[in-house]
Amino acid sequence: GKVAVLLGGFSAEREVSLMSGQGVLAALQRSGVDAHAFDPAERELWQLKAQGFERAFITLHGRFGEDGTVQGALELMGIAYTGPGVLSSSLSMDKIMSKRIWRAEGLPTPDWRQVRSGAETEAALAALGAPMIVKPAREGSTIGLSKISHASECAAAYALAAQCDPEVLCEQCIVGDEVTVALLGQGEAAQALPLIRIQVPGGNYDYEHKYFSDETQYLIPSGLPAAEEAAIQRLALQAYQSLDCRGWSRVDVMIDAATRRPYLLELNSSPGMTGHSLVPMAARAVGLSYEALCLQVLASAGL
Ligand code: DAL
Ligand code: MG
Repeated sequence: GKVAVLLGGFSAEREVSLMSGQGVLAALQRSGVDAHAFDPAERELWQLKAQGFERAFITLHGRFGEDGTVQGALELMGIAYTGPGVLSSSLSMDKIMSKRIWRAEGLPTPDWRQVRSGAETEAALAALGAPMIVKPAREGSTIGLSKISHASECAAAYALAAQCDPEVLCEQCIVGDEVTVALLGQGEAAQALPLIRIQVPGGNYDYEHKYFSDETQYLIPSGLPAAEEAAIQRLALQAYQSLDCRGWSRVDVMIDAATRRPYLLELNSSPGMTGHSLVPMAARAVGLSYEALCLQVLASAGL
């Protein structure tokens, strides 16, 4: 049957989503799937039903795509979709909610405070210590994120984050190795792919370094000791299962340089599929081509 590749959308990550979606669309078409692009920013989502689509491959990023809203609309229309369901998508889009669940489950995540003003951001810096991350709770690709060390930076960092989302959090900045873990499957059958370690000159893996820079280095194999890699894969799997995810996701983790303890940053329930993106890279390392990955994720589509 007809497959809609949902791409574009309304979020600040629209441009990233267009790149992800075009990659997935071309791969599905090359594999013989009757796939068509569908941008909910240009057409009413409800047209999917009338146009005879049976399944949706979600490559929307950010709000109104990755946050459970589109998933809910697809459920109402009876169209099977890729990736985590409504509740899992909403919880993982909201970094504060996912951190609350992980903490309740005893999984490590950096200490944080929700803040409502520049003054509260200053208080958070005093409590959490420098350096500290200030970021919107429901945004992606490091948009609206600042790393600060001084009280004088708090007002601007808060204002920047609040422009993206009224919900803002301050998070203790873990200094050390940055790794990401791709996850495929569901429940007990879910599996973690090999870690990718990300090295950026200067240490800021920001929007530019995520999608456009050739300076960013992606290490796979990660170079971490096997036992450490396995422990982080287990942690990522627990993070995925605690949010009851299915299909696929990607969990971002920081490893404290001093203690070697890993900390969960966030779970991306609609991971990037651009030419620079990480899940395709991890898949390739286990012999899964971009096309095979797309087909496997599509096959996991459900309601
Ligand atoms: N939010 C971007 C798309 C990612 O996590 O890959
Ligand atoms: Mg993200």
